[in-house]
Amino acid sequence: MSALPSRRLADDPCNRSKDDARFFRGWLKRPFVTGAVSPSSRALGRAMARFVPDAAIERGEVVLELGPGTGVVTQMLIERGVREESLVLIEYSAEFCRLLRARFPKATIVEGDAYALEAEAALAGRRIGTVVSSLPLFTKPDAMREALIGKALASVAPGHPFIQFSYALTLPVKPERLGAVVELSPWVKLNLPPARVIVYRRPA
Ligand SMILES: C[S@@+](CC[C@H](N)C(=O)[O-])C[C@H]1O[C@@H](n2cnc3c(N)ncnc32)[C@H](O)[C@@H]1O
Repeated sequence: MSALPSRRLADDPCNRSKDDARFFRGWLKRPFVTGAVSPSSRALGRAMARFVPDAAIERGEVVLELGPGTGVVTQMLIERGVREESLVLIEYSAEFCRLLRARFPKATIVEGDAYALEAEAALAGRRIGTVVSSLPLFTKPDAMREALIGKALASVAPGHPFIQFSYALTLPVKPERLGAVVELSPWVKLNLPPARVIVYRRPA
């Protein structure tokens, strides 16, 4: 893992409370899109980032993040060692996109709908190594969730992960529907509400 950068978004109480307010406003406007009343904890972001393979980081592969919000998971990916230049973020909210551009100027920020996986132009011919998602999948019908994860898995090489967090006891999609295997993290209790990380992979 690389050295920690000096920027620590969620450790800064000013940022944290401002981000909480931004999130809450987003949730009031579009509860089923924002999907949570406050940003995830650093602990949950770290638990997600742990699943990015070391080799993918060493090779500088693209990490596609869906639903980055105010950037807590993004920051944890960077602290895990992912280069900012390797990050492509797709976020629906224009306000969150403005914030992400200011916070991660070297990352590629796409304002758009992750279900359409509108990343081709931003990828500029680069292959996606890992997909990390915080999308509120359970607000969408089964078929849409399955299509999203299926498309994401098809965009990465076999054995490479689609990493999702969830508060739910059930899986968003049964892995056999995707021809995939699933790995679960322990519950991350330092998050409100507690959540766990679900990793789908096609067999290598
Ligand atoms: C539960 S929040 C997670 C935000 C952040 N990653 C975190 O963990 O704090 C979900 C995020 O996904 C975004 N989102 C929801 N639907 C989306 C879509 N179809 N395309 C892109 N972003 C979407 C929301 O705007 C919100 O920022």
